[in-house]
Amino acid sequence: LDNGLALTPPMGWLAWQRFRCLTDCITYPDECISENLFKAMADRMSSDGYLEAGYEYVIIDDCWASKERDNDSRLQPDPARFPGGIKNLSDYIHSKGLKFGIYADYGTHTCAGYPGSIDYLKIDAQTFAEWGVDYLKLDGCYADVETMPEGYGEMGQYLNETGRPIVYSCSQPAYQEPKGINPNYTKLAETCNLWRNWDDIDDAWSNVTNILGWFSSNQDRIASFSGPGHWNDPDMVGISANAECGHIRRLLDSVDRITGTNSSTMRVSLDEDYYIHDSLLLGNFGLSYEQSKAQMAIWAILAAPLLMSVDLRTIDPIFRDILQNKDVIAINQDPMGVQGRLVLTKSTIDIWTKPITPHIEGSDSYAIGVLSNRVDGYPYRLNFTLLELNLTHIYGYTIKDVYDPSSEPRDVDIDQLIFVRVKPSGVVLL
Ligand code: GLA
Repeated sequence: LDNGLALTPPMGWLAWQRFRCLTDCITYPDECISENLFKAMADRMSSDGYLEAGYEYVIIDDCWASKERDNDSRLQPDPARFPGGIKNLSDYIHSKGLKFGIYADYGTHTCAGYPGSIDYLKIDAQTFAEWGVDYLKLDGCYADVETMPEGYGEMGQYLNETGRPIVYSCSQPAYQEPKGINPNYTKLAETCNLWRNWDDIDDAWSNVTNILGWFSSNQDRIASFSGPGHWNDPDMVGISANAECGHIRRLLDSVDRITGTNSSTMRVSLDEDYYIHDSLLLGNFGLSYEQSKAQMAIWAILAAPLLMSVDLRTIDPIFRDILQNKDVIAINQDPMGVQGRLVLTKSTIDIWTKPITPHIEGSDSYAIGVLSNRVDGYPYRLNFTLLELNLTHIYGYTIKDVYDPSSEPRDVDIDQLIFVRVKPSGVVLL
């Protein structure tokens, strides 16, 4: 969409993958979908380096609204969970130097059963603009797929008419593709800044690889539609948090079992320090450290929107460092905005490449992601040549290992064997 926005893939924080539709603020005051949650995330984004690293949108997903519209047919937030109203929350987020996003649904209801926008597109666009919304995710549950191309276009027009620059995230292909309908991606790129193509991401490696499988199988059909202002969206980066605390807690359990003691003092301080509560048992802890690095690397190569969905209050610093890795972000945010592709599979290891700047005749650059689908538990030694990846510059290339700051850049000829060691479900990013 040519509205001057999302010239590189949008970066921010989106509630869904981690916090879902948790609306019980009595039992889960720190985790429920409420103004407190979004304020807390905004605080962390501005204080813990995320904003500086480029993450700017704080985005509400489903379950924020009241079950009824107000007397003027306007959407309104749940009064108990958003007592200050959405405009106040938006002001708060803006006061932190961040931008504010919200969720609505093109159909009669949102996916979680809250009021849909189908008969209220214009009113909702106006309401969002008045609230200072900078990003809209428009979902497509409970809607007629046939009418989506026109309907998403209509909403885009209403957003445009408000005069407020609003990043427009569409979900149309995610509802068309599974039904075997081939979306008109040319039109989508004119209508939307980004669009979800396929399944929801969950906090499991099998889920990440399923999405990657879909993206690689369909790359010849969809990749060229991604570019500045219009992006394919494989969904959020669900990098795990609290893994360390989980391990500590399980360890304490074992110690207690064996020694017959109770390490409750330590547990309480763990809870207080890290706000673990019950959430530890409930998920968002599915990806290992290596898998998290791998997801981040391949999302960078795909020029995917980088929308984190983790609890930024409790995230382990080692995962924060992955999310804030400057070199990986630079690959993702490369101004050319080319979506990378899977170019070679060898020994059950996928190699993805993405052209990046500088990319001129005589000096072409690439990011290379070597992603292991192997399950044998040792770092597999893979070799390949740049020629096998269709990198053909006759003077060769200088390569460096992005995730290994101690690695020295080295010159390689295009037919020279490059050896890398890739951990199971891990990545090497060059
Ligand atoms: C759909 C979307 C998710 C999320 C939920 C909310 O499943 O694909 O990303 O927004 O709805 O209910």
